[in-house]
This record gives sequence, structure tokens and C-alpha cells, in this order.
Amino acid sequence: MNSQRVGVVGLGPIGNKHADIYKQTPGARLLAVCDKDRSRADAASARLGVPGFYSVKDMLADAELDMVSVATGGQEYGSDHFEPTMQALEAGLHVLGEKPISNDIAQAEQMVALAREKRRCYGINLNHRFTPAARLAKRWVDEGCVGHQLFMNVSMWIMNPRETSPWFHIKALHPHTVDIMRYFAGDIVAVHCFATKATGRKIWSTAQFNLRFASGAVGHLCGSYDIERGHPMERVELAGEKGRFVIEDIFREATLYPAGNLEKTVYSNPVFGGMRDFDDTFRNRLGRFVEQLNAGASPEEIDGSGADGLAAQKVLAAAIKSIETESVVNV
Ligand SMILES: NC(=O)c1ccc[n+]([C@@H]2O[C@H](COP(=O)([O-])OP(=O)(O)OC[C@H]3O[C@@H](n4cnc5c(N)ncnc54)[C@H](O)[C@@H]3O)[C@@H](O)[C@H]2O)c1
Repeated sequence: MNSQRVGVVGLGPIGNKHADIYKQTPGARLLAVCDKDRSRADAASARLGVPGFYSVKDMLADAELDMVSVATGGQEYGSDHFEPTMQALEAGLHVLGEKPISNDIAQAEQMVALAREKRRCYGINLNHRFTPAARLAKRWVDEGCVGHQLFMNVSMWIMNPRETSPWFHIKALHPHTVDIMRYFAGDIVAVHCFATKATGRKIWSTAQFNLRFASGAVGHLCGSYDIERGHPMERVELAGEKGRFVIEDIFREATLYPAGNLEKTVYSNPVFGGMRDFDDTFRNRLGRFVEQLNAGASPEEIDGSGADGLAAQKVLAAAIKSIETESVVNV
């Protein structure tokens, strides 16, 4: 069996999660971890029993790797991905990066372009599409159960009290929702966005977007960093002339309502062998990247690719421009 030799860069909660998952993923071997924060690198190295590095340069020089997970963060959760991603791609490694691909469109374009030039696989942790419920709904779309698409409604919220930049919520949360919309309904070509601020907040912490897809279908997205966790946090609905589906809470339930037939189809996350919690979205996403690499997938075949991450960020940049100009913005 092929096996990917993996390094993880950025050892906050999310990078540590990646590292734990690689240790348990068939077809992957965690060989190195890296953080410029020495205490984080040392702690992860001791905990995971692999060499720890304080710079990507040193890690790439010393460890023989096939791929790197980039779980850095930075401004708007995205400014620090650029440097390690470019270094790893330059060194000829495949990269799985955290979302957002970047908080800066020009840098995202450079990363996608370098991956393309080097013929390396570049994926983004757009984990919400990597659930059995989402895969089943995608099959319904592909098999024609939805038919000609008419409208899509998506909502997602969590509590995140950080106040780092006015656009933090839009850039850092909505790569997930926009990716889910693109996954089922294709490219988005125009956006209109309104945003508001919860009591005491300085950033645009809640927003709603009207969207037009290249197919001609229309979409609506509502999201927030102001809603306490606990209750369901995501709902996805796509309707067409042949039927409509709803996915409740990422992986809990998917229901297909066929047009002209009162018998609906319901998939429920099973107690045995089902998704246990949100961490399983990471497990599925990282596992899928490893699986694709081991199977020799081409860069164009990567599920949840750098190009997908870039496309989502362009929609969000258009949404921000829409708020600033109070107008509809083409993507
Ligand atoms: N996919 C998801 O569902 C999901 C959920 C939460 C967070 N995230 C993403 O995960 C990322 C990380 O989040 P976090 O909370 O763990 O962040 P964090 O800030 O706690 O950790 C990032 C670490 O990266 C290190 N780092 C930055 N640049 C580096 C470099 N060039 N070389 C080595 N180390 C470097 C920092 O020192 C820091 O320790 C963010 O981009 C965030 O958006 C994704």
C-alpha cells in the first residue's frame, strides 16, 4: 500500500488535530511537526513522538516528506498560510491547507498558480463537504433527482467573539458555506450582501448574501459569528424542478423531497459507524486527501482543491465590495 509521509506546520488546536488524525489515518505516516513558536513545536513533538522543527526550511531540509498540512492562521485566520505553502510547493510537496486559503486574493492566486506549475496536489480543508450526508446529496444531484436547479438556501452560525478585522467573519467562516454552495450548484457569478453587528461588536459579525449562480439559479446565504453553540449550526437546501433536498447540521440528516411523489427519502447519521462529532469532518477530509494522493490522483482531480478555496474567497471579496458600495457585485 502507498503511504504519504506527512509534516504538519502550525501547531495550534487545529494543527494538533491534523497531526492526531494523520497518526490514525491508514496510508499516512506523520513524520514531522513544525511551529515557529518553540514551546508549541516542542510540546507537539513530545506528545506525538516525532521530530519538531522551528522553521519550515529546517523541516523540509531534514525530514523526507511527500505532503504537508498547513494549519497556520494569522490575520483573518489566513495571512500565515502563504509562506509555508509556497515553501512546501517549491520543495515539490503536496499541500493540504486550512481555510481560508488566504485572506488575500493575490496570495491565494500565487499559491494555486505555483501548485499548477509544479503539478502538485493542493487541497483546502473545506471539510463540510466531506460527510456521508453531503456525498449522498451530491449523488442525488448527479443522478438528476433535483433536476434543473432553481434556488439554494444555506445558513451557518457559530459563536466567535474575536474582533480582529471588520471582515473576519465573512472571510474566515464563509469559505465553508460558499464551498458547499459551489459543490452542489456550481460557480457563483454575482453577489449582494448586507451585514450587521451584534451588540458591542465592531466587526460585521452577521451577514446575509443574495447570490446568482452561473446556471441561472438563485441563492441565499445567512451566517453569523454571534450565535451561541449548542443548537444545530448549519442547514443546506437545494431545490430544482425534479426535487428538493435539505441537509441538517452538516452530517445529521439529509432528506430528498421528490417532485410529484409524497414519499420522501431520509438519511440519518447512524449510531453505529456514523459521524461522531465535528472532528470527523476533519478525519474524512484529511483521509480523502491522503487517499487521493495514494491513488495517484492528478492535481485537477483533488476534491476541495486550492482552486475551490480561491473561488470561494473571490465570492467573499465580492460580498465585501457589495457591503462597501451597497450594490450588486459581479464575481
Ligand atoms: N476547517 C475548519 O473547520 C477549521 C476550524 C477552525 C479553524 N480552522 C483554521 O485553522 C487554522 C489554524 O487555527 P488555530 O486556531 O489552530 O490557529 P493558531 O493561531 O492557534 O495556530 C497557528 C500556529 O501557526 C504557527 N505559525 C504561523 N506561521 C508559521 C510559519 N511560517 N511556520 C511555522 N509556524 C507558523 C503559529 O506560531 C501558531 O502556533 C486557521 O486558518 C483557521 O481558519 C479551520
